Amino acid sequence: MQHQLAAILADASTGAPVIATRPEFETFKARIVGPNGTLTAAMKGMATVPKEDKPAAGKLLNQTKGEIEKLFAAALARIEQNENAARLGAPIDPTLPSPDDFAGSLHPLTQVREEIVSVFHKLGFTVADGPEIESEWYCFDALNTPANHPARDMQDTLFMPDATRCADASKRGTEAYLLRSHTSSVQIRTMLKQQPPVRIIAPGRCFRRDTVDATHSANFHQIEGLWVDKHVTLRDLKSVLDAFVREMFGADAKIRLRPSFFPFTEPSFEMDLKSPDLGRLSDRWLEIMGCGLVDPKVFENVGYDPEQWTGLAFGLGLERIAMLLHGIDDIRHFYTNDLRFLRQFA
Ligand code: PHE
Repeated sequence: MQHQLAAILADASTGAPVIATRPEFETFKARIVGPNGTLTAAMKGMATVPKEDKPAAGKLLNQTKGEIEKLFAAALARIEQNENAARLGAPIDPTLPSPDDFAGSLHPLTQVREEIVSVFHKLGFTVADGPEIESEWYCFDALNTPANHPARDMQDTLFMPDATRCADASKRGTEAYLLRSHTSSVQIRTMLKQQPPVRIIAPGRCFRRDTVDATHSANFHQIEGLWVDKHVTLRDLKSVLDAFVREMFGADAKIRLRPSFFPFTEPSFEMDLKSPDLGRLSDRWLEIMGCGLVDPKVFENVGYDPEQWTGLAFGLGLERIAMLLHGIDDIRHFYTNDLRFLRQFA
């Protein structure tokens, strides 16, 4: 028995390392542990071993079986490895970079926002911020927007379901909260926080009850601008906007101010732009922002002396600028996270 088992193990040890394929492995395995296998025969032979030798023989048999199972497992692992290597064509080098080397990039709206911020930075503006959930006072009252103004209508603006979110406990239940409909609320927050001179821009998300289509989104972005100092005039407004437009849309870009109305500026304008660098849009005036000189009423609301201080303000739509710059024809592309779109700005 001892010799028989030693011979089986020797046979398995020499045979296993040279097996290369699965069929070879199956034949090899059958030769040892199959119904007519050598080890199977040895196990059957246990019956004829004298009783006093049985424990030792049994122990040896189990040991041999264990060794042979290890040989099987090693042979199988080697076969699998070969199969994988054959499938891949070459051995794997795990230190190589991923074949998809797209590391991610800033969203086009973020890129355009940063570009605009840096242009205004050069003109002396710093960035200010305000909350997206805003009280009616910051969004409308302080901005001289009367109770009957259409922006205050439920049809146009997203009001919070109840007024209990009001941070000021004394006003709780009396003041409505809404998703800010414009970034002009940041004008108020900034002026209440600091004394003039003020020169800020405030990029941020805005919300309106708009039906989504190619040019409208209920959720969009604006960049607000506010400059308060002594003797700020229309000439300053025009030169700031002129400089901005030439930096963003090319040295030959032109602006045009058209009289308009906003409750918080007087006079108020819509600003149009025309640039030979805008391809098929180059022969058209394109409306890109609202602007004007700060209404004295707004200064009164924040405790600035309107006799002493003057100011200019403007608000532009970030999506609109990005769409013009990149020739994007549908605002929805910005929000669907389609990599085919996003990677064009990487
Ligand atoms: N808040 C205005 C809007 O959303 C834009 C604006 C800002 C107009 C500042 C004048 C001054 O339409």
